[in-house]
Amino acid sequence: MKNTIFKLITGSILATGVALMAGCSGSETTNTGAAPESMVKKEEVADNGEGIGKFSGVTLAAFDAAVAASGKTVFETKCSACHKVTDQKVVGPGLKGVTQRRKPTWILNMITNPEEMTKKDPQAMKLLEEHLTQMTFQNVTDDEAKAILEYLREIDGEGASVQK
Ligand code: HEC
Repeated sequence: MKNTIFKLITGSILATGVALMAGCSGSETTNTGAAPESMVKKEEVADNGEGIGKFSGVTLAAFDAAVAASGKTVFETKCSACHKVTDQKVVGPGLKGVTQRRKPTWILNMITNPEEMTKKDPQAMKLLEEHLTQMTFQNVTDDEAKAILEYLREIDGEGASVQK
């Protein structure tokens, strides 16, 4: 009788051991194996830093103070609840320096297409992770978006190198 119990116990310990080992080697195989397809795909998409939206390849003309002034008005009505033009975060990031860290095309796409940007553009996705609030489209026209960009150029010092 004792013997049988002993056998049963050692038997189950052995079985558990084998199962654990099997589990370990199983997970090792997945870890050292090829990267999952989803990861590979992400790396294959080249990020040209322009974001996603209707704008592409925007190059900047000489700074225009009058356009910047109209951009300031739009900004104060439609953006200032969430953004300051300093380094300070409100709901969204402080926008000082944004024309130096992003391409003009990216900024225009972010202003006019924020919801798609935070889902597909790597930089915008990171911002959403940090700020945990979705920026929504503020019904700005393309011209208003460009005027706001001009205002942001002014904040960053007119003539600053904007093209990365
Ligand atoms: C409801 C709050 C809210 C409003 C209103 C809003 N934004 Fe945003 N904005 C955000 C948040 C939050 C982010 C970070 C991305 C995200 O989480 O969606 C962001 C990101 C940005 C960025 C990218 C900043 C960077 O560091 O690259 C720009 C540029 C921007 N917003 C411009 C604007 C402009 C211009 C307006 C007005 C037309 C505006 N936003 C209106 C909340 C807002």
